[in-house]
Amino acid sequence: MEFLVKNIDLAAQIDDCIVLGLCNDNQLSTVAEQINTISQGYIQDLINKGDITLQLGDVTLLYQIPNTPIRKLLIVGCGDKKAFNLNAAKKWLEAICQQLTTKAINQVSLVYPDVIEQHTGAYQFARIITEVVDSHYYAFNHFKTQLKNQPPILTKFTVVTDKQSLQQELEQGFIEGVALAEGIVATKNLANLPPNICNADYLAEQGKALADRFSSITTTVLGEKQLADLGMNAYLAVGQGSNNESKLTIMEYKGQSNSSAKPIVLVGKGLTFDSGGISIKPAASMDEMKYDMCGAATVFGVMQTIARLKLPINVVGLMAGCENMPSASSYRPGDIIKTMSGQTIEVINTDAEGRLVLCDTLTYIARFDPEYVIDIATLTGACIVALGHHYNGLIANNDQLAELLLSAAQQSGDKTWRLPMDEAFQKQIDSTIADMVNAGGREGGTITAGCFLSRFTQAYKWAHLDIAGTAWTSGANKGATGRPVTMLVQFLLEHSKKFND
Ligand code: BES
Ligand code: MN
Ligand code: ZN
Repeated sequence: MEFLVKNIDLAAQIDDCIVLGLCNDNQLSTVAEQINTISQGYIQDLINKGDITLQLGDVTLLYQIPNTPIRKLLIVGCGDKKAFNLNAAKKWLEAICQQLTTKAINQVSLVYPDVIEQHTGAYQFARIITEVVDSHYYAFNHFKTQLKNQPPILTKFTVVTDKQSLQQELEQGFIEGVALAEGIVATKNLANLPPNICNADYLAEQGKALADRFSSITTTVLGEKQLADLGMNAYLAVGQGSNNESKLTIMEYKGQSNSSAKPIVLVGKGLTFDSGGISIKPAASMDEMKYDMCGAATVFGVMQTIARLKLPINVVGLMAGCENMPSASSYRPGDIIKTMSGQTIEVINTDAEGRLVLCDTLTYIARFDPEYVIDIATLTGACIVALGHHYNGLIANNDQLAELLLSAAQQSGDKTWRLPMDEAFQKQIDSTIADMVNAGGREGGTITAGCFLSRFTQAYKWAHLDIAGTAWTSGANKGATGRPVTMLVQFLLEHSKKFND
């Protein structure tokens, strides 16, 4: 699919479907006014008669506009001008995509809507076009032996405007948006793979392939032998019931000319399947625990995006690959494990495995002398109870980092909410016979999981994103969402601005 920016010339765009956005304030935009005048009031007449309605997302497809070369004109309501913010613009674009699919239209020229200027701006607009359009047309058909009723695809999406300054901003937005949208696709493709194919070794191979593709990335893989030498016993305990080897994949991206500049470290939970282990999960929806590696898949998509964009920063991305299975060699409730940090953990529940894999990885990464550390994990069902499927949960030991992430979330529309973390919660994971237990009970489950990780991240500025509710959708249309790739890339884009000037 091609994203283009062109000077406005409707006659030159006749092969395309022209898309016009109109607010419900009885005012025609400049281009709509022109078309209306040439067609002798055709558009205004239809609005007056109520045949064209302009609430947000209302669509009207008109054919053969009188006195014009326009064969197809799609008018899509922008609703209330004042409320046309980033989220409204996304809904508006989704309504457009929906109509394009229904009517099997494969080329569009969208007239840059004036209303965008007051809220979103051209750059951001181009970014969300690539995001919404790519996600609408995404399909994971890898394992279908027959493709039936394939929805038509879009080949060309052009935004037309006569303003020179907007054209440059739109082009920049498309360049960054396309790289980002492809990063999201990479995340989704990896996350959607079944657990009999995508195991920790598969993640490692993907990490190596990324290094082959980009000379700015170097990938190292630690297998069980190396993890044992490092004393990463909590990580190893989780995988010890599985026949698939645990593997930690480390992707180092160097985009900063001063190669000793402190890196940002991203750690992704990569449970390629989480059965719960001996504390086994109920059968219903257990298949969805193949998505328990969405944190790792997010890191992969982010690394691909920043390498494509050649951001002038250093980033280390880790995929903590592992499988949690019940077997004779599994770790058990009651086991006490010594972590790489030296702290001991009493295992209360083998289903609270993510924090065990993460805690050793978070100890390991101190060697990179990080500027910031962010872990991304489908860590707790409690996060879905607290924030639904709408918000990523955020926990941090540093207010500045939390603010930067929340601002990136705001800018990218990837909703995120910070949860508290203080002493009161820490008590819930105290153990009578070890330094801590691995599960803090039902109350505040997302926070006590964060408290657990916080005991391994004292050496640096750290934030934790719980994406249990946002990383995939369940049910009939189940699939990975690609969240929170956008907010992390946004965070890194903002961070890299510091080095541009
Ligand atoms: N991967 C799960 C969390 C999860 C559950 C994500 C459902 C998305 C949907 C995690 O490993 C887990 O099982 N957590 C337990 C922790 C508990 C035992 C303290 C949970 O949330 O039930
Ligand atoms: Mn679990
Ligand atoms: Zn898990």
